[in-house]
Amino acid sequence: LANSLGRTPPMGWNSWNHFNCQINEKIIRETADALVSTGLSKLGYTYVNIDDCWAELNRDDKGNLVAKKSTFPSGIKALADYVHSKGLKLGIYSDAGYFTCSKQMPGSLGHEFQDAKTFASWGIDYLKYDNCNNGGLKPTVRYPIMTRALMKAGRPIFVSLCEWGDMHPALWGAKVGNSWRTTNDIGDSWESMISRADMNEVYADYARAGGWNDPDMLEVGNGGMTKNEYIVHFSLWALSKAPLLLGCDVRNMTKETMEIVSNKEVIAVNQDSLGVQGKKVRMEGDIEIWAGPLSGYRVAVVLLNRGPWRYAITAEWDDIGIPPKSVVEARDLWEHKTLKTHFKDKLTATVEPHACKMYVLKPVA
Ligand code: GLA
Repeated sequence: LANSLGRTPPMGWNSWNHFNCQINEKIIRETADALVSTGLSKLGYTYVNIDDCWAELNRDDKGNLVAKKSTFPSGIKALADYVHSKGLKLGIYSDAGYFTCSKQMPGSLGHEFQDAKTFASWGIDYLKYDNCNNGGLKPTVRYPIMTRALMKAGRPIFVSLCEWGDMHPALWGAKVGNSWRTTNDIGDSWESMISRADMNEVYADYARAGGWNDPDMLEVGNGGMTKNEYIVHFSLWALSKAPLLLGCDVRNMTKETMEIVSNKEVIAVNQDSLGVQGKKVRMEGDIEIWAGPLSGYRVAVVLLNRGPWRYAITAEWDDIGIPPKSVVEARDLWEHKTLKTHFKDKLTATVEPHACKMYVLKPVA
């Protein structure tokens, strides 16, 4: 969407994956504090996004959405002011239907211009716009109304289409949103995570600055996967130019979680100025090579082992888009090491089960 936002994939946090409907203003404020105190905000994690269940079930007598008094007593404007005072941005959630997915608050269908104005007046910076209870109306009818309403509301607001990939939003999303979900909801398991990466990957060619494919939010730190599996999760999301929205309790992260989500070199792949989504370039059983171009003639590559045994995996220049005979320097993004030898034609590494290696390759001759 040409609202000048999302020139690189958005980064931040969202309440849903960890807290579901159990949210309140204290959690949101403490999360903003934690993003700053951990240093994550400096690495780019600046959106603090409230998901479903923040509003009263009923609008007020003028038809306005109202924050739930029991859990957000100070109101959303106060929260936005607080989050902004920390140098962060506030995101909110609504639904292109009559009720949100939880059915615990109203949707915005038929109230788009009023709600967009409300969000702008509160100082909202990001809207996640969901797809439940939509009366059977087409998304291509419902979603653009909110986008127009936001454009008229007088404040730049990132538009995150949460259409779950049903009607191939990659094909129409760039005109309507800054990102679009290509999948149904992620769960905190290897199967769920890797299948969402797969569903998202087929749309790689539709991603561009200002409009990104969204395979759903991160589960890193929620406990359902091994360290190596979470590293695969973070690596594939980064390479896929996916939004990097943390979905754990940022106030109580383990050292291991922090180590994964604060990997500057992997984040730099995600935020690279070229803005081209990486994709699968070779598949052989449980082995996959994912790759994508970066600025400065560099290439990011993930050697992925989806199977139960250890494998030696080889990336050939031909597959990953490096000119033949190029001599290449390889930076291992998880070991934080530049390999001593240079490589010609290919690079091979041993990869553990449900794990990956991730490199940035730079031609030196
Ligand atoms: C849908 C969305 C989720 C989350 C929930 C909230 O399932 O896809 O990301 O926002 O609704 O109810």
